[in-house]
Amino acid sequence: MIEIMVVLDYESGEPLYIQLYQYFKQEIHNGRIKRGEKLPSKRRLSLHLGVSQNTVETAYQQLEAEGYVEGLPRKGIFVKEVNHDLFLNAEEAPRQNQKDKREEREGIKVDFSHGLIATEHFPYSVWRKLTIQCLYEDQSLLLLNGERQGELPLREEISKYIFQSRGVRCLPEHIIIGAGTQYLIGLLTMIIGRDSIYSIEEPGFHRTREAFKDQCVKLIPLSLDQYGMNIEKLQASQANVTYVTPSHQFPMGMVMPIARRMELLKWADSIGGYIIEDDYDGEFRYKGKPIPSLQGLDFNGRVIYLGTFSKSLIPSIRISYMVLPTSLLDKYNQHFSTYKQTVSRLHQHTLWQFMKNGHWERHLNKMRTVYRKKQHTLIASIVKNLGNQATIIGDASGLHIVLSVSNNMSEEELIERAKEQGVRVYPTSVYYDYTKVIQEPMILLGFGGLTEREIELGVRLLKEAWKI
Ligand SMILES: Cc1ncc(COP(=O)(O)O)c(C=O)c1O
Repeated sequence: MIEIMVVLDYESGEPLYIQLYQYFKQEIHNGRIKRGEKLPSKRRLSLHLGVSQNTVETAYQQLEAEGYVEGLPRKGIFVKEVNHDLFLNAEEAPRQNQKDKREEREGIKVDFSHGLIATEHFPYSVWRKLTIQCLYEDQSLLLLNGERQGELPLREEISKYIFQSRGVRCLPEHIIIGAGTQYLIGLLTMIIGRDSIYSIEEPGFHRTREAFKDQCVKLIPLSLDQYGMNIEKLQASQANVTYVTPSHQFPMGMVMPIARRMELLKWADSIGGYIIEDDYDGEFRYKGKPIPSLQGLDFNGRVIYLGTFSKSLIPSIRISYMVLPTSLLDKYNQHFSTYKQTVSRLHQHTLWQFMKNGHWERHLNKMRTVYRKKQHTLIASIVKNLGNQATIIGDASGLHIVLSVSNNMSEEELIERAKEQGVRVYPTSVYYDYTKVIQEPMILLGFGGLTEREIELGVRLLKEAWKI
Protein backbone atom coordinates (compact mmCIF):
# COMPACT_ATOMS: atom_id res chain seq x y z
CA MET A 1 0.00 0.00 0.00
CA ILE A 2 1.45 3.41 -0.94
CA GLU A 3 2.32 5.94 1.71
CA ILE A 4 0.43 9.23 1.47
CA MET A 5 2.36 12.11 2.97
CA VAL A 6 0.46 15.10 1.70
CA VAL A 7 0.41 18.30 3.71
CA LEU A 8 -2.84 20.10 3.07
CA ASP A 9 -2.78 23.84 3.53
CA TYR A 10 -6.13 24.95 4.93
CA GLU A 11 -5.17 28.64 4.88
CA SER A 12 -4.11 28.88 1.24
CA GLY A 13 -7.59 29.27 -0.22
CA GLU A 14 -6.72 26.56 -2.78
CA PRO A 15 -9.49 23.93 -2.70
CA LEU A 16 -8.42 20.76 -0.89
CA TYR A 17 -9.27 18.53 -3.83
CA ILE A 18 -6.87 20.51 -6.03
CA GLN A 19 -4.10 20.22 -3.46
CA LEU A 20 -4.71 16.50 -3.24
CA TYR A 21 -4.86 16.10 -7.02
CA GLN A 22 -1.62 18.07 -7.41
CA TYR A 23 0.10 15.98 -4.76
CA PHE A 24 -0.74 12.73 -6.59
CA LYS A 25 0.18 14.19 -9.97
CA GLN A 26 3.56 15.26 -8.62
CA GLU A 27 4.20 11.90 -6.99
CA ILE A 28 3.33 10.10 -10.23
CA HIS A 29 5.54 12.43 -12.26
CA ASN A 30 8.57 12.01 -10.06
CA GLY A 31 8.06 8.27 -9.89
CA ARG A 32 7.37 7.96 -6.17
CA ILE A 33 3.98 6.48 -7.02
CA LYS A 34 4.55 3.91 -9.72
CA ARG A 35 2.60 2.46 -12.56
CA GLY A 36 0.18 -0.26 -11.48
CA GLU A 37 0.07 0.90 -7.87
CA LYS A 38 -3.30 1.05 -6.26
CA LEU A 39 -4.48 4.30 -4.71
CA PRO A 40 -6.15 4.10 -1.28
CA SER A 41 -9.93 3.82 -1.30
CA LYS A 42 -11.89 7.06 -0.99
CA ARG A 43 -13.07 6.08 2.49
CA ARG A 44 -9.63 5.16 3.77
CA LEU A 45 -7.96 8.25 2.44
CA SER A 46 -10.68 10.58 3.68
CA LEU A 47 -10.33 9.09 7.19
CA HIS A 48 -6.54 9.23 6.99
CA LEU A 49 -6.48 12.89 5.95
CA GLY A 50 -9.55 14.07 7.83
CA VAL A 51 -11.19 15.38 4.65
CA SER A 52 -14.54 14.52 3.12
CA GLN A 53 -14.95 11.59 0.74
CA ASN A 54 -16.16 14.12 -1.84
CA THR A 55 -12.79 15.87 -1.74
CA VAL A 56 -10.98 12.61 -2.42
CA GLU A 57 -13.48 11.62 -5.09
CA THR A 58 -13.11 14.91 -6.99
CA ALA A 59 -9.32 14.68 -6.86
CA TYR A 60 -9.47 11.10 -8.18
CA GLN A 61 -11.91 12.12 -10.93
CA GLN A 62 -9.51 14.79 -12.08
CA LEU A 63 -6.60 12.37 -12.13
CA GLU A 64 -8.71 9.94 -14.11
CA ALA A 65 -9.86 12.61 -16.57
CA GLU A 66 -6.24 13.52 -17.22
CA GLY A 67 -5.21 9.91 -17.74
CA TYR A 68 -2.99 9.48 -14.68
CA VAL A 69 -5.11 6.75 -13.12
CA GLU A 70 -7.89 4.42 -14.11
CA GLY A 71 -10.71 2.91 -12.08
CA LEU A 72 -11.17 -0.82 -12.48
CA PRO A 73 -14.65 -2.04 -11.48
CA ARG A 74 -14.67 -3.69 -8.04
CA LYS A 75 -10.85 -3.56 -7.88
CA GLY A 76 -10.01 0.07 -7.19
CA ILE A 77 -8.09 2.92 -8.73
CA PHE A 78 -4.68 2.22 -10.29
CA VAL A 79 -1.88 4.39 -11.63
CA LYS A 80 -1.47 4.22 -15.40
CA GLU A 81 1.68 4.21 -17.49
CA VAL A 82 3.07 7.72 -17.81
CA ASN A 83 5.86 8.56 -20.24
CA HIS A 84 8.02 10.93 -18.23
CA ASP A 85 9.86 12.34 -21.26
CA LEU A 86 6.59 13.68 -22.44
CA PHE A 87 6.17 15.84 -19.39
CA LEU A 88 9.14 18.10 -20.00
CA ASN A 89 7.82 21.66 -19.79
CA ALA A 90 4.39 20.48 -18.83
CA GLU A 91 4.36 22.55 -15.71
CA GLU A 92 4.15 25.86 -17.27
CA ALA A 93 -31.25 28.00 -37.10
CA PRO A 94 -33.62 29.05 -39.09
CA ARG A 95 -35.49 32.14 -37.79
CA GLN A 96 -37.03 31.27 -34.45
CA ASN A 97 -40.67 31.85 -35.38
CA GLN A 98 -40.25 29.83 -38.58
CA LYS A 99 -38.67 27.08 -36.52
CA ASP A 100 -41.50 27.22 -33.95
CA LYS A 101 -44.06 26.89 -36.74
CA ARG A 102 -42.29 23.89 -38.22
CA GLU A 103 -41.99 22.25 -34.80
CA GLU A 104 -45.71 22.82 -34.23
CA ARG A 105 -46.58 21.31 -37.60
CA GLU A 106 -44.45 18.30 -36.93
CA GLY A 107 -45.70 18.00 -33.33
CA ILE A 108 -42.21 18.45 -31.85
CA LYS A 109 -42.38 19.01 -28.10
CA VAL A 110 -38.73 18.65 -27.19
CA ASP A 111 -35.72 19.33 -29.43
CA PHE A 112 -32.39 17.98 -28.16
CA SER A 113 -30.46 20.10 -30.66
CA HIS A 114 -26.79 20.54 -29.75
CA GLY A 115 -26.68 23.90 -31.50
CA LEU A 116 -28.95 25.62 -28.98
CA ILE A 117 -27.92 27.59 -25.91
CA ALA A 118 -29.85 28.87 -22.88
CA THR A 119 -31.03 32.14 -24.43
CA GLU A 120 -33.27 32.76 -21.40
CA HIS A 121 -30.13 33.58 -19.40
CA PHE A 122 -28.66 36.07 -21.87
CA PRO A 123 -27.98 39.35 -19.99
CA TYR A 124 -30.29 41.40 -22.21
CA SER A 125 -30.34 44.63 -20.23
CA VAL A 126 -26.55 44.89 -19.79
CA TRP A 127 -25.93 44.02 -23.43
CA ARG A 128 -28.57 46.52 -24.56
CA LYS A 129 -27.01 49.26 -22.45
CA LEU A 130 -23.51 48.55 -23.75
CA THR A 131 -24.73 48.36 -27.34
CA ILE A 132 -26.48 51.71 -27.07
CA GLN A 133 -23.31 53.26 -25.64
CA CYS A 134 -21.55 52.42 -28.94
CA LEU A 135 -24.13 54.39 -30.84
CA TYR A 136 -23.45 57.87 -29.51
CA GLU A 137 -21.87 60.55 -31.66
CA ASP A 138 -18.69 60.58 -29.58
CA GLN A 139 -18.11 56.98 -30.70
CA SER A 140 -18.35 57.81 -34.40
CA LEU A 141 -15.03 56.03 -35.08
CA LEU A 142 -16.89 52.79 -34.53
CA LEU A 143 -18.79 53.43 -37.74
CA LEU A 144 -15.57 53.03 -39.71
CA ASN A 145 -13.41 50.01 -40.45
CA GLY A 146 -11.41 48.76 -37.49
CA GLU A 147 -8.16 46.86 -37.18
CA ARG A 148 -7.89 43.88 -39.45
CA GLN A 149 -7.07 41.47 -36.61
CA GLY A 150 -9.95 42.80 -34.54
CA GLU A 151 -10.22 45.55 -31.94
CA LEU A 152 -7.07 45.67 -29.84
CA PRO A 153 -8.80 46.21 -26.45
CA LEU A 154 -11.02 43.18 -27.14
CA ARG A 155 -7.98 41.09 -28.04
CA GLU A 156 -6.36 42.23 -24.79
CA GLU A 157 -9.38 41.03 -22.80
CA ILE A 158 -9.47 37.75 -24.72
CA SER A 159 -5.77 37.08 -24.12
CA LYS A 160 -6.21 37.65 -20.36
CA TYR A 161 -9.27 35.44 -20.26
CA ILE A 162 -7.82 32.51 -22.21
CA PHE A 163 -4.67 32.59 -20.13
CA GLN A 164 -6.58 32.50 -16.84
CA SER A 165 -9.17 29.97 -17.85
CA ARG A 166 -7.40 27.74 -20.37
CA GLY A 167 -3.69 28.37 -19.82
CA VAL A 168 -3.26 29.81 -23.34
CA ARG A 169 -0.11 31.96 -23.45
CA CYS A 170 -0.25 34.70 -26.04
CA LEU A 171 -0.02 38.40 -26.65
CA PRO A 172 -2.98 40.27 -28.14
CA GLU A 173 -0.92 40.56 -31.36
CA HIS A 174 -1.20 36.82 -31.82
CA ILE A 175 -5.00 36.87 -31.84
CA ILE A 176 -7.07 37.16 -35.01
CA ILE A 177 -10.77 37.67 -34.53
CA GLY A 178 -13.06 36.37 -37.27
CA ALA A 179 -16.69 35.71 -38.04
CA GLY A 180 -16.87 32.03 -37.16
CA THR A 181 -14.71 28.97 -36.96
CA GLN A 182 -15.24 28.01 -40.61
CA TYR A 183 -14.02 31.40 -41.80
CA LEU A 184 -10.96 31.13 -39.57
CA ILE A 185 -10.23 27.59 -40.76
CA GLY A 186 -10.32 28.86 -44.36
CA LEU A 187 -7.95 31.72 -43.57
CA LEU A 188 -5.68 29.47 -41.54
CA THR A 189 -5.45 26.93 -44.35
CA MET A 190 -4.28 29.68 -46.66
CA ILE A 191 -1.71 30.83 -44.09
CA ILE A 192 -0.35 27.34 -43.42
CA GLY A 193 -0.50 26.49 -47.09
CA ARG A 194 -2.50 24.27 -49.39
CA ASP A 195 0.46 21.99 -50.01
CA SER A 196 0.38 20.72 -46.42
CA ILE A 197 -1.49 17.50 -45.68
CA TYR A 198 -4.29 17.91 -43.18
CA SER A 199 -5.93 15.36 -40.90
CA ILE A 200 -9.16 15.53 -38.95
CA GLU A 201 -10.89 13.45 -36.31
CA GLU A 202 -13.21 10.74 -37.60
CA PRO A 203 -15.95 11.22 -36.51
CA GLY A 204 -15.35 14.94 -36.50
CA PHE A 205 -16.83 18.40 -36.87
CA HIS A 206 -18.47 18.46 -40.30
CA ARG A 207 -18.18 22.23 -40.71
CA THR A 208 -14.42 22.16 -40.31
CA ARG A 209 -14.19 19.19 -42.66
CA GLU A 210 -16.16 21.07 -45.31
CA ALA A 211 -14.06 24.19 -44.84
CA PHE A 212 -10.88 22.16 -45.42
CA LYS A 213 -12.38 20.46 -48.45
CA ASP A 214 -13.43 23.78 -49.92
CA GLN A 215 -9.81 24.88 -49.69
CA CYS A 216 -8.99 21.84 -51.87
CA VAL A 217 -6.40 20.51 -49.44
CA LYS A 218 -5.57 16.86 -49.01
CA LEU A 219 -7.57 15.77 -45.94
CA ILE A 220 -7.11 12.49 -44.09
CA PRO A 221 -9.78 11.34 -41.63
CA LEU A 222 -8.20 9.64 -38.60
CA SER A 223 -10.16 7.38 -36.31
CA LEU A 224 -10.40 7.87 -32.56
CA ASP A 225 -9.68 5.66 -29.62
CA GLN A 226 -10.98 6.24 -26.10
CA TYR A 227 -8.60 9.21 -25.62
CA GLY A 228 -9.31 11.05 -28.85
CA MET A 229 -7.28 11.11 -32.05
CA ASN A 230 -5.33 7.89 -32.47
CA ILE A 231 -1.69 8.93 -32.33
CA GLU A 232 -0.31 5.84 -34.05
CA LYS A 233 -2.59 6.40 -37.01
CA LEU A 234 -1.55 10.03 -37.08
CA GLN A 235 2.13 9.10 -37.05
CA ALA A 236 1.59 6.56 -39.81
CA SER A 237 -0.30 9.06 -41.95
CA GLN A 238 1.38 11.63 -44.15
CA ALA A 239 -0.38 14.48 -42.40
CA ASN A 240 1.64 17.38 -41.08
CA VAL A 241 -1.33 19.38 -39.79
CA THR A 242 -4.08 17.99 -37.60
CA TYR A 243 -7.36 19.37 -36.32
CA VAL A 244 -8.55 18.19 -32.89
CA THR A 245 -11.19 19.04 -30.28
CA PRO A 246 -9.31 17.87 -27.17
CA SER A 247 -11.42 19.48 -24.43
CA HIS A 248 -14.62 17.81 -25.61
CA GLN A 249 -14.25 15.81 -28.77
CA PHE A 250 -16.95 16.64 -31.28
CA PRO A 251 -19.20 14.66 -31.38
CA MET A 252 -18.07 11.77 -29.13
CA GLY A 253 -17.28 13.94 -26.13
CA MET A 254 -14.09 12.41 -24.73
CA VAL A 255 -11.57 14.69 -23.00
CA MET A 256 -8.04 14.10 -24.24
CA PRO A 257 -5.84 13.14 -21.28
CA ILE A 258 -2.60 14.96 -20.63
CA ALA A 259 -0.40 12.08 -21.79
CA ARG A 260 -2.10 12.02 -25.21
CA ARG A 261 -1.78 15.80 -25.43
CA MET A 262 1.95 15.52 -24.82
CA GLU A 263 2.25 12.79 -27.44
CA LEU A 264 0.45 14.97 -29.94
CA LEU A 265 2.80 17.86 -29.21
CA LYS A 266 5.79 15.57 -29.57
CA TRP A 267 4.47 14.45 -32.96
CA ALA A 268 4.10 18.05 -34.14
CA ASP A 269 7.58 18.96 -32.87
CA SER A 270 9.23 16.00 -34.49
CA ILE A 271 7.92 16.78 -37.97
CA GLY A 272 7.61 20.55 -37.72
CA GLY A 273 3.86 20.19 -38.12
CA TYR A 274 0.89 22.03 -36.64
CA ILE A 275 -2.00 21.15 -34.36
CA ILE A 276 -5.24 23.10 -34.71
CA GLU A 277 -6.89 22.99 -31.31
CA ASP A 278 -10.62 23.81 -31.43
CA ASP A 279 -11.68 24.64 -27.87
CA TYR A 280 -15.30 25.42 -28.70
CA ASP A 281 -16.96 24.63 -25.36
CA GLY A 282 -14.05 24.12 -22.95
CA GLU A 283 -15.62 26.59 -20.51
CA PHE A 284 -18.19 24.07 -19.37
CA ARG A 285 -16.54 21.27 -17.52
CA TYR A 286 -18.43 19.15 -15.02
CA LYS A 287 -15.87 16.69 -13.71
CA GLY A 288 -12.66 17.97 -12.14
CA LYS A 289 -10.75 21.06 -13.17
CA PRO A 290 -10.16 21.86 -16.86
CA ILE A 291 -7.00 20.33 -18.34
CA PRO A 292 -4.70 23.04 -19.74
CA SER A 293 -5.08 23.66 -23.43
CA LEU A 294 -2.60 22.10 -25.85
CA GLN A 295 -1.47 25.62 -26.68
CA GLY A 296 -0.56 26.17 -23.03
CA LEU A 297 1.54 23.00 -23.00
CA ASP A 298 3.32 23.85 -26.25
CA PHE A 299 6.68 25.58 -26.08
CA ASN A 300 7.64 25.24 -29.72
CA GLY A 301 4.97 27.22 -31.54
CA ARG A 302 3.22 24.18 -32.96
CA VAL A 303 -0.37 24.89 -31.86
CA ILE A 304 -3.05 27.16 -33.28
CA TYR A 305 -5.73 27.72 -30.66
CA LEU A 306 -9.33 28.34 -31.81
CA GLY A 307 -11.94 29.83 -29.49
CA THR A 308 -15.48 31.07 -29.92
CA PHE A 309 -18.19 32.98 -28.07
CA SER A 310 -20.87 30.90 -29.79
CA LYS A 311 -21.45 28.48 -26.91
CA SER A 312 -20.41 30.58 -23.97
CA LEU A 313 -22.31 33.73 -24.96
CA ILE A 314 -24.42 33.63 -28.13
CA PRO A 315 -23.75 32.26 -31.62
CA SER A 316 -25.37 35.12 -33.52
CA ILE A 317 -22.66 37.72 -32.79
CA ARG A 318 -20.27 35.49 -34.80
CA ILE A 319 -17.21 36.29 -32.71
CA SER A 320 -14.59 33.59 -32.86
CA TYR A 321 -10.82 33.91 -32.76
CA MET A 322 -7.58 32.09 -33.40
CA VAL A 323 -4.22 32.41 -31.71
CA LEU A 324 -1.34 32.06 -34.14
CA PRO A 325 2.19 31.00 -33.25
CA THR A 326 4.85 33.52 -34.31
CA SER A 327 5.88 31.66 -37.49
CA LEU A 328 2.32 31.76 -38.84
CA LEU A 329 1.72 35.29 -37.60
CA ASP A 330 4.65 36.44 -39.71
CA LYS A 331 3.17 34.74 -42.77
CA TYR A 332 -0.22 36.26 -42.03
CA ASN A 333 1.32 39.74 -41.79
CA GLN A 334 3.30 39.26 -44.99
CA HIS A 335 0.60 37.81 -47.21
CA PHE A 336 -2.83 38.55 -45.78
CA SER A 337 -2.65 42.17 -44.75
CA THR A 338 -5.27 43.16 -47.31
CA TYR A 339 -7.93 40.96 -45.69
CA LYS A 340 -10.31 43.12 -43.65
CA GLN A 341 -11.83 42.19 -40.31
CA THR A 342 -15.10 40.27 -40.73
CA VAL A 343 -16.81 40.94 -37.38
CA SER A 344 -18.84 44.09 -36.79
CA ARG A 345 -16.83 46.66 -34.91
CA LEU A 346 -19.94 47.58 -32.91
CA HIS A 347 -20.31 44.02 -31.59
CA GLN A 348 -16.60 43.81 -30.83
CA HIS A 349 -16.76 47.04 -28.90
CA THR A 350 -19.81 45.86 -26.94
CA LEU A 351 -18.12 42.58 -26.11
CA TRP A 352 -14.99 44.39 -24.98
CA GLN A 353 -17.03 46.53 -22.57
CA PHE A 354 -18.89 43.44 -21.42
CA MET A 355 -15.63 41.68 -20.58
CA LYS A 356 -13.82 44.68 -19.14
CA ASN A 357 -16.60 45.50 -16.70
CA GLY A 358 -16.78 42.01 -15.20
CA HIS A 359 -20.08 40.99 -16.85
CA TRP A 360 -18.39 38.22 -18.81
CA GLU A 361 -16.99 36.52 -15.74
CA ARG A 362 -20.35 36.76 -13.96
CA HIS A 363 -22.15 35.43 -17.01
CA LEU A 364 -19.78 32.49 -17.37
CA ASN A 365 -20.06 31.58 -13.70
CA LYS A 366 -23.82 31.66 -13.95
CA MET A 367 -23.88 29.60 -17.13
CA ARG A 368 -21.59 26.99 -15.62
CA THR A 369 -24.17 26.44 -12.88
CA VAL A 370 -27.09 26.53 -15.33
CA TYR A 371 -25.56 23.97 -17.70
CA ARG A 372 -24.29 21.77 -14.87
CA LYS A 373 -27.87 21.55 -13.54
CA LYS A 374 -29.29 20.85 -16.97
CA GLN A 375 -26.76 18.14 -17.61
CA HIS A 376 -27.36 16.63 -14.19
CA THR A 377 -31.11 16.52 -14.88
CA LEU A 378 -30.51 14.90 -18.27
CA ILE A 379 -28.25 12.21 -16.86
CA ALA A 380 -30.50 11.50 -13.89
CA SER A 381 -33.54 11.19 -16.21
CA ILE A 382 -31.66 8.85 -18.54
CA VAL A 383 -30.50 6.63 -15.69
CA LYS A 384 -34.02 6.56 -14.23
CA ASN A 385 -35.93 6.00 -17.47
CA LEU A 386 -33.60 4.21 -19.83
CA GLY A 387 -31.62 2.18 -17.29
CA ASN A 388 -28.93 -0.09 -18.61
CA GLN A 389 -30.20 -0.02 -22.17
CA ALA A 390 -28.56 3.34 -22.68
CA THR A 391 -24.93 4.19 -22.01
CA ILE A 392 -23.97 7.82 -21.54
CA ILE A 393 -20.79 8.90 -23.32
CA GLY A 394 -18.80 12.13 -23.15
CA ASP A 395 -20.41 13.73 -20.11
CA ALA A 396 -17.29 15.38 -18.64
CA SER A 397 -17.94 18.71 -20.35
CA GLY A 398 -19.81 20.67 -23.00
CA LEU A 399 -23.43 21.12 -23.97
CA HIS A 400 -24.16 17.71 -25.43
CA ILE A 401 -23.77 14.05 -24.60
CA VAL A 402 -23.83 10.90 -26.71
CA LEU A 403 -26.14 8.01 -25.93
CA SER A 404 -25.38 4.49 -27.02
CA VAL A 405 -28.71 2.66 -27.16
CA SER A 406 -28.97 -1.12 -27.12
CA ASN A 407 -32.57 -1.96 -27.90
CA ASN A 408 -31.87 -3.41 -31.34
CA MET A 409 -33.13 -0.32 -33.18
CA SER A 410 -30.97 1.30 -35.83
CA GLU A 411 -29.91 4.93 -35.56
CA GLU A 412 -32.57 5.84 -38.11
CA GLU A 413 -35.28 3.98 -36.22
CA LEU A 414 -34.31 5.60 -32.94
CA ILE A 415 -34.60 9.04 -34.54
CA GLU A 416 -37.88 8.23 -36.31
CA ARG A 417 -39.56 6.62 -33.28
CA ALA A 418 -38.49 9.60 -31.16
CA LYS A 419 -39.95 12.01 -33.69
CA GLU A 420 -43.27 10.15 -33.63
CA GLN A 421 -43.36 10.84 -29.89
CA GLY A 422 -42.56 14.53 -30.47
CA VAL A 423 -38.85 14.42 -29.63
CA ARG A 424 -36.07 15.43 -31.95
CA VAL A 425 -32.76 13.63 -31.42
CA TYR A 426 -29.74 13.61 -33.69
CA PRO A 427 -27.48 11.08 -35.43
CA THR A 428 -23.73 10.72 -34.93
CA SER A 429 -23.17 8.72 -38.13
CA VAL A 430 -23.27 11.94 -40.18
CA TYR A 431 -20.00 13.03 -38.61
CA TYR A 432 -18.10 10.24 -40.33
CA ASP A 433 -16.58 11.06 -43.66
CA TYR A 434 -16.51 7.41 -44.62
CA THR A 435 -19.47 5.18 -43.90
CA LYS A 436 -19.09 3.72 -40.49
CA VAL A 437 -19.94 0.12 -39.77
CA ILE A 438 -22.45 0.83 -37.04
CA GLN A 439 -22.39 -1.70 -34.24
CA GLU A 440 -24.38 0.11 -31.62
CA PRO A 441 -26.19 3.27 -32.70
CA MET A 442 -25.09 6.49 -31.04
CA ILE A 443 -27.46 9.39 -30.60
CA LEU A 444 -26.45 12.99 -29.98
CA LEU A 445 -28.39 14.86 -27.30
CA GLY A 446 -27.86 18.58 -26.76
CA PHE A 447 -29.34 20.08 -23.62
CA GLY A 448 -28.23 23.73 -23.65
CA GLY A 449 -31.46 25.14 -25.05
CA LEU A 450 -33.93 23.07 -23.00
CA THR A 451 -35.43 23.73 -19.57
CA GLU A 452 -35.04 21.04 -16.94
CA ARG A 453 -38.74 20.20 -17.27
CA GLU A 454 -38.38 19.80 -21.03
CA ILE A 455 -35.36 17.57 -20.53
CA GLU A 456 -37.31 15.32 -18.15
CA LEU A 457 -40.30 15.21 -20.47
CA GLY A 458 -38.07 14.49 -23.45
CA VAL A 459 -36.39 11.52 -21.79
CA ARG A 460 -39.74 10.09 -20.60
CA LEU A 461 -40.99 10.30 -24.19
CA LEU A 462 -37.82 8.62 -25.43
CA LYS A 463 -38.49 5.73 -23.06
CA GLU A 464 -41.89 5.24 -24.71
CA ALA A 465 -40.54 5.78 -28.20
CA TRP A 466 -37.75 3.30 -27.78
CA LYS A 467 -39.88 0.78 -25.84
CA ILE A 468 -37.43 0.55 -22.97
C1 LIG B 1 -16.66 21.56 -32.86
C2 LIG B 1 -17.14 22.97 -32.95
N1 LIG B 1 -16.25 23.94 -33.19
C3 LIG B 1 -16.62 25.23 -33.27
C4 LIG B 1 -17.93 25.59 -33.07
C5 LIG B 1 -18.27 27.05 -33.12
O1 LIG B 1 -18.34 27.52 -34.41
P1 LIG B 1 -18.51 29.10 -34.65
O2 LIG B 1 -17.38 29.75 -33.92
O3 LIG B 1 -18.39 29.23 -36.12
O4 LIG B 1 -19.85 29.50 -34.17
C6 LIG B 1 -18.90 24.61 -32.80
C7 LIG B 1 -20.32 24.90 -32.61
O5 LIG B 1 -20.78 25.85 -32.13
C8 LIG B 1 -18.49 23.27 -32.73
O6 LIG B 1 -19.37 22.30 -32.48
